[in-house]
Amino acid sequence: MADTRTATLTFDGKTIELPILSPTVGPDVIDIRKLYAQGDVFTYDPGFTSTAACESAITYIDGDKGELLYRGYPIEQLAEHSHYLEVCYLLLNGELPTADELADFENRVTRHTMLHEQVHNFFRGFRRDSHPMATMVGVVGAMSAFYHDSLDITDPWQREVASMRLIAKLPTIAAMAYKYSVGQPFVYPRNDLDYASNFLHMCFSVPAEQYKVEPALAKAMDLIFTLHADHEQNASTSTVRLAGSSGANPFACIAAGIACLWGPAHGGANQACLEMLREIGSVDRIPEFVARAKDKNDPFRLMGFGHRVYKNFDPRAKVMKESADEVLELLGVHNNPLLQVAKELEKIALEDPYFVEKKLYPNVDFYSGIILEAMGFPTSMFTPIFALSRTVGWISQWKEMIGDPTGRIGRPRQLYAGATAREYTDVTKR
Ligand code: ACO
Repeated sequence: MADTRTATLTFDGKTIELPILSPTVGPDVIDIRKLYAQGDVFTYDPGFTSTAACESAITYIDGDKGELLYRGYPIEQLAEHSHYLEVCYLLLNGELPTADELADFENRVTRHTMLHEQVHNFFRGFRRDSHPMATMVGVVGAMSAFYHDSLDITDPWQREVASMRLIAKLPTIAAMAYKYSVGQPFVYPRNDLDYASNFLHMCFSVPAEQYKVEPALAKAMDLIFTLHADHEQNASTSTVRLAGSSGANPFACIAAGIACLWGPAHGGANQACLEMLREIGSVDRIPEFVARAKDKNDPFRLMGFGHRVYKNFDPRAKVMKESADEVLELLGVHNNPLLQVAKELEKIALEDPYFVEKKLYPNVDFYSGIILEAMGFPTSMFTPIFALSRTVGWISQWKEMIGDPTGRIGRPRQLYAGATAREYTDVTKR
């Protein structure tokens, strides 16, 4: 939103006036779009620590306060009063739905939960021991080969159908990736179950025995989906936007987002965090690992700690922690040694000057893994569950980008540090 103020940049005898844009909340933004044209210079910001790459009205984070808003609503309120599909509607449409709108939305998502039967053959092409994230990247990308009637991104109706398909089918795909990895038959979705219960059913039922979905676990599952639904312009969301800026189809864009999410610095941290807790094993070994995390010469980091934006408690981690206590109590595993290690580690890290000075607080991944493990998921499923939860955020951001009339293909520039122009030499003379 344009402002009357400008920022003045002076260098090499040139003075350039740069407009200042005011957000509805958060820091002002200096508009440098014309900087190269007017000043023949680029800005340099690897990792985008000071760069707003787009205008967005979906999610807002105040990292210092530890605040997260979806369309203006605090995450704590949504976690307490709402549920995942209502949050999906909110993220996609900007407003909470009326009762009729919600019923219609839930019905539409539910009617798309089955996958094209030929996709089953596609799954079978993967190695038996494939990581479910590897399978998901492939299968979601392959959706563009199965759903030709929702690939035209210039048609709003096709964009809508693609969105519904992705939100509805990602749990089916994630559950199938899991079933395939453990050598069990695929379980078809049940449309009489809610979104989270259906996912648990597809993961844990077998043809010989139906899984009885415990409502409290379905609620905890739904909460995990809700807390991961969107998170502003993080690495995977930016990947989806960049892929989409070229006009790539939505399935290809979401597959790109899943690939990016897999990294241990991003969505892969929940798996890495649980593996780290297992490696630590007992409370008495925590000091050794904390010392390693602080050692500049050791690449080890405390997984589940630190965040690019939050310099305070991740508000999702607070909600997740309460849920972890409830789930473990319900399942009778409150003496879980991993939870004891996690609690003690959190306590030590929050008091340690290294972590305090660097403002390294537990993030959402610190507790989600403990809940998921207690529910019976192997660590390899943690990131797929994050991916299916985040799909709605990626789609909302992708749709917002497609609808932006000022949108252009994303094309960063560089600070070139390579050789200057030189003559080619023949292989015999090198
Ligand atoms: N353990 C130990 N030291 C850490 C940690 C950690 N988990 N995280 C950051 N630091 C230190 C760094 O060594 C660095 O120290 P220095 O200033 O002395 O060099 C300082 O804190 C700043 O860290 P950066 O890496 O510059 O911060 P950045 O914003 O680039 O990274 C990240 C954020 C990737 C999340 C980082 O904190 C990390 O690797 N955490 C562990 C992985 C993790 O939990 N990721 C999940 C993120 S949340 C999500 O995706 C859902």
